[in-house]
Amino acid sequence: MSEAAAAFVVAVFCLQMTQRVHGIGLGLRYDLATELLERRPKNVSWVEVHPENYVDRGGRYAEILDLAREDWPVVTHGLTTCFGALRPFDEGYLTALRGFLKDLEVPWHSEHLCIGAAGAHFFHDLLPLPFTDEAVATSAQRISEVRDAIDMPIALENVSYYAPQGPNGLEEADFVVEVLERADAKLLLDVNNIYVNARNFGFDPKAYIDKIPADRVVQIHVAGHLVRDDGLRIDTHGEPVPDDVYQLLEYALRKLGPVPVLLERDSNIPALDELLAEIDELWAIYERATGEERAS
Ligand SMILES: [Fe+2]
Repeated sequence: MSEAAAAFVVAVFCLQMTQRVHGIGLGLRYDLATELLERRPKNVSWVEVHPENYVDRGGRYAEILDLAREDWPVVTHGLTTCFGALRPFDEGYLTALRGFLKDLEVPWHSEHLCIGAAGAHFFHDLLPLPFTDEAVATSAQRISEVRDAIDMPIALENVSYYAPQGPNGLEEADFVVEVLERADAKLLLDVNNIYVNARNFGFDPKAYIDKIPADRVVQIHVAGHLVRDDGLRIDTHGEPVPDDVYQLLEYALRKLGPVPVLLERDSNIPALDELLAEIDELWAIYERATGEERAS
């Protein structure tokens, strides 16, 4: 097969995989998995997993993944290979991740545009980068390294943050777009993170979305967040999705088209029926905004 023919086959394969991930998905979290896999609700069209929970790991985790794959396409969202990292990535982990992603046949792999570790220490949190040209260059380089290592399209995710930026940086949306273009990467657009940052730092979340190039967005996250007594909003993934985030999602879908949307719920996990009601609400917004209907 010629090089051009091989490239065409790969492109068609990626397109087919992307089309399989459609509509509304749910984060496959351990605490939800048993009931989700027993009930297999029809309004969940795909699931997302954190590969750190599955790579080189057997037992119940491997069983959960196998059972989920019987009904749902799977997308992966990493937690430990943040693109702002300055320390070398773990080559052994990236090699294992590459094999895991190939086996799963994922259409892309996403990670956060942030710092998650320094030296030998993981923060167990996602800390923001300065929105500077230097951080754009560093992040683009690190994204290229990960893409080369796992041989897979890469999507970066915009994060929430709680400390103000210095006076000389870019606006957040401009920073994200610069990294996307410099790295030739895809975007996992987290509308809850945009909303939280917009309310905490006083910018217009719709103006942020207006700057995003639609052709780079492959996935959207929505979640709920905590509002403290002093008004600060904390991105907890532990509350129901608020109306303002639903409205921002609808605005984003009208701008971006039928991008698959994932409901993230990682703490304070309620009864599954409560999450399925949120999934129904997301479907109503998705159908209204994009004109695409869910398969019956
Ligand atoms: Fe997210």
